[in-house]
Amino acid sequence: MRKIIIDTDPGIDDALAILLALSAKEELDVLALTTVNGNVDVEKVTKNAFKILDVAGRADIPVYKGNGKPLVRENSMPADCHGDDGLGNIGMTDSDRMPEEESAADFLIRKVREEKGEITLVPIGPLTNIAEAVQKDPEFVSNVKEVIIMGGAVYGGNVTPHAEFNFWVDPEAAKIVFQAGFNNLVMIGLDATKYVWLDPVLRELLYQIHTPASRFIHKVTRVYADAHWGYGQKLGCELCDALVTAYLLDENVLDTIDAFVEVETQGLCDGASVVYPVTKFTDKGINCKVAVSADTKKFFEIFFGYLFPEYLEIVRTIQG
Ligand code: BDR
Ligand code: CA
Repeated sequence: MRKIIIDTDPGIDDALAILLALSAKEELDVLALTTVNGNVDVEKVTKNAFKILDVAGRADIPVYKGNGKPLVRENSMPADCHGDDGLGNIGMTDSDRMPEEESAADFLIRKVREEKGEITLVPIGPLTNIAEAVQKDPEFVSNVKEVIIMGGAVYGGNVTPHAEFNFWVDPEAAKIVFQAGFNNLVMIGLDATKYVWLDPVLRELLYQIHTPASRFIHKVTRVYADAHWGYGQKLGCELCDALVTAYLLDENVLDTIDAFVEVETQGLCDGASVVYPVTKFTDKGINCKVAVSADTKKFFEIFFGYLFPEYLEIVRTIQG
């Protein structure tokens, strides 16, 4: 059983990543959610974290509120695809629960020290909390088992031509994380997440499945699909963060390369990940694995297989 902490800015695709993780009861032990400013402000994303846990019926999972702004910069604009509340504007009522007293970074530092070498960090928002923990505790990096990140891109961003949203919000934090020397760092960026596209047929299937979780996913992705239509007149939406959870459940869902990654913090390429594949840049060294593509069919088999196993055969038929 892999022990994980999800560092998140929910976020519609964050919600799906979290629900998928919670559905894998034999494989993943979700110790906590830590929240961070990103898709919307940290107050909203923290409320959203509780709403998602409510959908999953997991009031036992603690939530630690994290940074309300990037490490050194002021807040940038929120993402434009998750709705004003960050969770699809579907009018869910707030949970009664409150975040724990400890800050996200202090919790991360304490927990990985208590369970040295045991915990996988899963950051699916800007890397502010993780970078703060790196800066605060010299032993933090060696105490962590592995870090599986959604962020970055080898070729082309989604906020600027070069920068992906999570790195663009807090490039200094991303830079610190890639320089930190984590044991096993995996960057799952846009080159891979573009393959995990929820098309209208699979989205309609979620509606027909008719469980609270499937209806939630169907409803919450409405605004997200509208935004994707606005970007390029394509029907459906990209489930970026959920690919990280799928990778935790089956590494074969991704193709990765060994690489050295740096993050640009200024100029035209501010927030861009600069990826040096080891095969070409032999003297740079390796600081992470970078996802370069993903297997769409395998992803949706994992997604539906864990969340709605009775419908796996229908998904296989739809996917051909
Ligand atoms: C990332 O940006 C956010 O809007 C998503 O939640 C995801 O983490 C994709 O670039
Ligand atoms: Ca996210």
